[in-house]
Amino acid sequence: MFNDKQIDDLTGRLFDGISFTREPAGLYDPLRYMIRIGGKRIRPRLCLTTYSFYSDNFDEGILAPASALEVFHSFTLMHDDIMDRSPLRRGMPTVWKKWNEDTAILSGDVMLIDAYQRIAKAPKAVLDRVLDLFSRTAAQVCDGQQYDMEFESVEEVPMEDYNRMIGLKTAVLLACSAGMGAIIGGASDAECDALYRYGYELGMAFQVADDYLDAFGDEKVFGKPIGGDIVNGKKSWLTVRTMEKTPDRAAFLEAFSRPADSAEEKAAKIAAVKDIYLQLGVDADAKEEIVRFTRRAMDAVTGTGLRPIQTEALRRFAEKLVGRAK
Ligand code: IPE
Ligand code: IPE
Ligand code: MG
Ligand code: MG
Ligand code: MG
Repeated sequence: MFNDKQIDDLTGRLFDGISFTREPAGLYDPLRYMIRIGGKRIRPRLCLTTYSFYSDNFDEGILAPASALEVFHSFTLMHDDIMDRSPLRRGMPTVWKKWNEDTAILSGDVMLIDAYQRIAKAPKAVLDRVLDLFSRTAAQVCDGQQYDMEFESVEEVPMEDYNRMIGLKTAVLLACSAGMGAIIGGASDAECDALYRYGYELGMAFQVADDYLDAFGDEKVFGKPIGGDIVNGKKSWLTVRTMEKTPDRAAFLEAFSRPADSAEEKAAKIAAVKDIYLQLGVDADAKEEIVRFTRRAMDAVTGTGLRPIQTEALRRFAEKLVGRAK
């Protein structure tokens, strides 16, 4: 089994020597830009971590599929930023802002294809299973993104529906990452399932944290504009919980449906909505929810065949995400 530092080094080196310098430059430059500005790379890191429980042989059969998870994820972000009209990603201008929407659409498409080419390098013996898992996951992410968009124009979203939506748009990809490392490593079916469930619950915690940071994070660290979800009328965890909890739904709906066209209107709306969140303490509720999902992640891998040193690695991985500020 590799230690955290070895996994970090491997993850950091995943895209070394990958140039994406094909022609036409207008198509591949944005792709290179997205990968170069980098992100936390938690999906490949998770995949390499679960793989390392079963094998120390880090060849193309695992490195290419692990990198596919990051390329696929970056593709979803490139399109998500168009859909969410977001100007900032990873502390840098988004592709549709820096180039234009058409470029972000087509460069995103080519990234999805690139991701499949990497997935196809999984070992022959498990390729069917890996392809099936990846394709199912990719379709689910689209389902989740559609619900996310549709919810913008619905007045109230029950927590159950919110959880299903984030399960699809975010959690399944972390689940797929953990599961894929286990499958390629040669884990038993029971352990693949347990690690998949760990990734899923961790992904739920991850998206609630993202919603929390979208309102209460520090833009310089988070790398995305603070208050974007409020401006867009997104049904974030904070909104859904507020609707459950507030004694004055009309007041919240009034603040949440204010126009946000000018910079002044945006700032006023964000301030008014955050004020209600703070009065109700949904910020603290969100933190508790993150801890709850993280506990469920650990429950999923407790009592399975995993060794203590392995569950400890998974606990450290989860704890890093819980305490994240970006
Ligand atoms: C952002 O994902 C989108 C969500 C699923 C919340 P990350 O927070 O992993 O973004 P990067 O890759 O580190 O930029
Ligand atoms: C992320 O949702 C889900 C996907 C990109 C599939 P968000 O819209 O909350 O992600 P950020 O906050 O823009 O990274
Ligand atoms: Mg979005
Ligand atoms: Mg977004
Ligand atoms: Mg977000």
